[in-house]
Amino acid sequence: MEHGHGLLIQALEQLRPEWLTRGGITVLEVGSSREPLPNQDSTRILARFCQERDWRFTTCDMDPENTARAAKLFADMGVDFAAVTALGEEYIAGKRKAFDVVYLDAYDFDHGKHSEQRQQRYEEFLGSRIDQHACEVMHLKAMQGLNRAGRRRCLVVIDDTWRESPDGPWLGKGPLAVPWALRNGWSIALETSEHRAVALQLDPLLRAPHRHLARLLRGAWQRVHPTDDTGASGQGLGAPAIGPDAEPAGDESDADVLQRQYAKVVDRLALPETVNVLEIGAAEGSSTEALRQALGERLGSYQVLEGADIAAVEDRSLDLVLAQSSWSRLSLYDQYRYLRDLRDKLKHRAPVFVNGLFVLGAGDGWTWNRFRRRMHQVEHDIPGDYHEFTSISTLTEMLARLGYEDITIFSHGFLARRGGLVLDQYHAQLPRGMDFQYRSSLDDWLSSGTAVPGHLPPVRVTAAPSSSRLSRARGSLREQGGKLKRRLR
Ligand SMILES: C[S@@+](CC[C@H](N)C(=O)[O-])C[C@H]1O[C@@H](n2cnc3c(N)ncnc32)[C@H](O)[C@@H]1O
Repeated sequence: MEHGHGLLIQALEQLRPEWLTRGGITVLEVGSSREPLPNQDSTRILARFCQERDWRFTTCDMDPENTARAAKLFADMGVDFAAVTALGEEYIAGKRKAFDVVYLDAYDFDHGKHSEQRQQRYEEFLGSRIDQHACEVMHLKAMQGLNRAGRRRCLVVIDDTWRESPDGPWLGKGPLAVPWALRNGWSIALETSEHRAVALQLDPLLRAPHRHLARLLRGAWQRVHPTDDTGASGQGLGAPAIGPDAEPAGDESDADVLQRQYAKVVDRLALPETVNVLEIGAAEGSSTEALRQALGERLGSYQVLEGADIAAVEDRSLDLVLAQSSWSRLSLYDQYRYLRDLRDKLKHRAPVFVNGLFVLGAGDGWTWNRFRRRMHQVEHDIPGDYHEFTSISTLTEMLARLGYEDITIFSHGFLARRGGLVLDQYHAQLPRGMDFQYRSSLDDWLSSGTAVPGHLPPVRVTAAPSSSRLSRARGSLREQGGKLKRRLR
C-alpha cells in the first residue's frame, strides 16, 4: 500500500501542474518521519520534492527527537527548511493563509499493533497511550485550523484515511476530519484505492461564495482555460471560461477586485449620471462597499434588501439592481417574485445584474459536479451550505415572460434590462421562441461586450383534435380491442 505522500505528489502533478514550475509554494507536513520504514520516509521525500521546485517546506511533530532528525536532514540537504516541535493542530491554529499544501500524517490511528516504544512516546508527550478517538479529534482540529491557515486552493492529504465502499464511513485518521471538511468548504480532490489516503482541496465557492465570485470577475479562469467562448470553439454555446483553477491576480484584495470590476459594469451598462441602486442581500457588505466606491460621485441612493419584500421601494426609482452571491439562495419562486415585482421599481431599461449563480445547461463540469454533490448531501441528509440551481433556459424564460430585454446569461450570472410591462396573469406560447445572449465569462463580456446569440425556438403545438374526431378515434380503438380479444380466446 502506497503512503499518503505519494498521493500528495500525484495530486499536485494532476491538479496543480502550474504550481510545479513556480517557486514559493508553501508546504507543511504534520507528523514527521520517525522510523525509516519502507514506503514511508515522507519528510525526506517531500523535502526533496520541495527543494527541486524552490518551494518552502516545514515539518512539524510533537516529538523533538523526530524534529531534530528532520533538522539534520535539512542541514545535510543544504536547504533552509523548518522543523518545528509542536502539536500540529496548535501550530496550524496560530497561522493564517500560510499554506498551499499540507500533509497530515500525525496522531496514529489505533490499529492495535503499535510498538511499546511508540506508545511510550504518546504517554510522554500527550499523557496517554494511542487512542483512536484522540487521533480522530486531532486530525479534525487540524482540518478546522486549515480553513484559516490554508491559502486559496489549498491542497491537503490526510494519510491513513480510507473507506471500504464509495459511500461507506471514513476510517483511520479521518472519520471526523473528512466529513467536517466536506461540510465546510472542502471537496475531495483525489481518493485512490492504492493509497489509503484522501486528498482534499479548499473550494473557495463553498467557503466564501461572495469572495470566490469576486475572483471569478477577474476572468482568471479564462487564463487557465483559454477557450474562446464566443461560439467559435465548436462546443455549442462555448466552453464556460469558469472553472476551479483560478489563480490569484497579484496581491489585490477581494474588495479591490470587486470594485474594479463593478466600475467596468457601470461603464458597460451605460448607467445614467446619478445612479439609484437596490442591492438584494449584501453578503458581508463587501459588494455594497465595492459598488459604492465604483460609482463614486454618481451614487444617488443605495438601498439594501435582505428579505423578499420590495413593496417599500419607491416605484420607478431604480437605475440598477445588484444581487451579488445572494440569488443562489433564492428558490425559483422567489427569483420569479423578485423579477416580477422589480419591474415596478425599475426605471425603463434599467438593468438587473445578478452575479453568483449555479447555472446548469452550459455543459460546465464544475457546476454539474456541484449539483451532483448537492444531490449526495440531500440523499445522505448531510447538513450544509446549500445553493439553488437554475438553468440557462429557465432564466431566459423567466426574464422573457416578464418582459425583460437584452438578456445576457453568464455561466455564473445574468444581466437583463426592464422592458415594457407585460401582463403576467396568463402566459401564452411565446410565438417567436426566446432570444438571449450567452458569454461564459462575465469578465470577457465586460472587456468586449460581445456574446453568442442564443435562440430557443417556440414549441410547436398541434391543434387539439375536435370532439367528433376524438369519438371516432375512440370507437376505432374499441373495435380493434374487441378483435384482439376474440383472437386471443
Ligand atoms: C505516522 S507518523 C508520521 C510518519 C511520517 N509522515 C512518514 O511517513 O515518515 C506520526 C507522527 O505524528 C506525530 N504526532 C502524533 N500526534 C501529533 C500531534 N498532535 N502533533 C504533531 N505530531 C504528532 C508522532 O510523533 C509521529 O512522529
